[in-house]
Amino acid sequence: MDEIEIRRKALQDSLDAGKTQKERNILGQFSTPFPLASDMMLYLRRLMGRDDISLIEPSIGTGVFYSAYRDLFVDSKERVLGFEIDPYYFKPAQQFWNGTNLEIRCADFLSQQPDRKFDMLVANPPYVRHHHIESTVKQRLKGEVFRESGLKISGLAGLYCYFMILSSKWLKDGGVSCWLVPSEFMDVNYGVAVKQFLLQNVELIHIHRFGLNDLQFSDALVSSCVVVFRNHKPSDGHPIRFSLGGSINNPETCKLLDRNQLSSKTKWTSLFGNDVVSDVSGAILGDFFTVKRGVATGDNDFFILDKETITKYSIPAKFLRPLIPSPRYIKGNRIDSENGLPVVDRQLFLFCCSLPEDILRREYPKVWEYICVGYERGVQSGYICSRRSPWYSCEEREPASIIMPYMGRSETNNQMFRFILNSSSAITTNVYLLLYPKPQYVQCMRDESVLLDVWRELNAIPAETLSRNGRFYGGGLRKIEPKELMNTPVNGIASLLIPHASGYQLSLFD
Ligand SMILES: C[S@@+](CC[C@H](N)C(=O)[O-])C[C@H]1O[C@@H](n2cnc3c(N)ncnc32)[C@H](O)[C@@H]1O
Repeated sequence: MDEIEIRRKALQDSLDAGKTQKERNILGQFSTPFPLASDMMLYLRRLMGRDDISLIEPSIGTGVFYSAYRDLFVDSKERVLGFEIDPYYFKPAQQFWNGTNLEIRCADFLSQQPDRKFDMLVANPPYVRHHHIESTVKQRLKGEVFRESGLKISGLAGLYCYFMILSSKWLKDGGVSCWLVPSEFMDVNYGVAVKQFLLQNVELIHIHRFGLNDLQFSDALVSSCVVVFRNHKPSDGHPIRFSLGGSINNPETCKLLDRNQLSSKTKWTSLFGNDVVSDVSGAILGDFFTVKRGVATGDNDFFILDKETITKYSIPAKFLRPLIPSPRYIKGNRIDSENGLPVVDRQLFLFCCSLPEDILRREYPKVWEYICVGYERGVQSGYICSRRSPWYSCEEREPASIIMPYMGRSETNNQMFRFILNSSSAITTNVYLLLYPKPQYVQCMRDESVLLDVWRELNAIPAETLSRNGRFYGGGLRKIEPKELMNTPVNGIASLLIPHASGYQLSLFD
């Protein structure tokens, strides 16, 4: 906690102490603990994938979310905007943040019209019960909900329901909204409109419920949850996360559900599997990764080049791909990178050229000389090479951040199958399997801390599970094929990876 946050918290406490519980109930004035605000911001930082994100906070209080935002995002070009209805909080908060990138307006957020739109909204909206909402205000809000979303909301809905539904007009298309709200809406009748909104009007990404013994607001006495959605028409086939317990970044359980499995008419809290605290995901590795075998060269002696051969035949860089040496030369489970090259004892490269022979002969006579060495050795007649045209054109592979030797021997290595973190741009031959994240996980695996967590989780897969899915050979040798690896059960990965709607996130934020 930095010095500014310590002072903000002191301000919040002294302002709260100057009001009675009843007064604070009327305007739903219960502040978010900073560690929770910080956790939500970290989640959003991972989800957004970049740090210059414009932010709006519709019920800002003294600005706990802005305080957490400053730690994880750079100040966006546009000012952060906050609304606060109560001058009692507004004035000291405005004074406190004076000179920063935050603009606070003293106004009822629900009567404002957007003058610009934002990438991200974060809120702990007021939990004001319906009987504290004036009937004329309620009628106006119900009408607005209908106009904005086409939904009929019950008069019993608390103020936070109107906040969630009516705030979308402040978001850019694809902008992300994150709400700390009571879990109640998931089970009670008045919550139907909110559930309809989450299923029909926006793209629901995640609901995280805190454990029942882990109430976030001791003074508000409600069990709360975090709801995250994207301001975008929903599409089928993108998984929605329902996680429970622990924190939103590291929940105790996590399920992926499809929109079609959810109905606004059913109770949602049972979907979290309240009683289940171990793995409930039933996930397999193939839910998160596509596994491919490395390149089958057809003749490693010819296609794998060391620096001496490269120099001897003046082979240009465009015909070379850095290559990770065979697993017996990789001691630990990490491969570091220096300028994209793997930090290994011996630098190797794969010869990758698909230029026709006549061009090679004419424009790259030295390289042609090397091709002739291949002819002399009869490399062109091998099974794989004879089926390629030209025979020396190896297939291309993208580097993968996680690779795995496809063979293991139980008695030589207590970690029979190991997942290796590859920070370099090197590819591999077919002695390795390469793990490529599915498109919806590419964005969040760019976050190094997420990648590290996933890699650790993969290495925690019990050896028995992997060998059960693979095959046994004589002498304690075990092998695993791409499909077999993809079918291997994995625990804990679902809770680390935040899926993005198919490709949408990539085009929006890349
Ligand atoms: C639950 S508190 C959250 C405050 C702060 N965001 C936090 O998390 O600590 C809700 C805040 O919204 C303010 N508020 C209530 N109704 C509002 C409205 N209609 N428009 C803007 N702010 C409102 C309250 O005064 C209170 O400061």
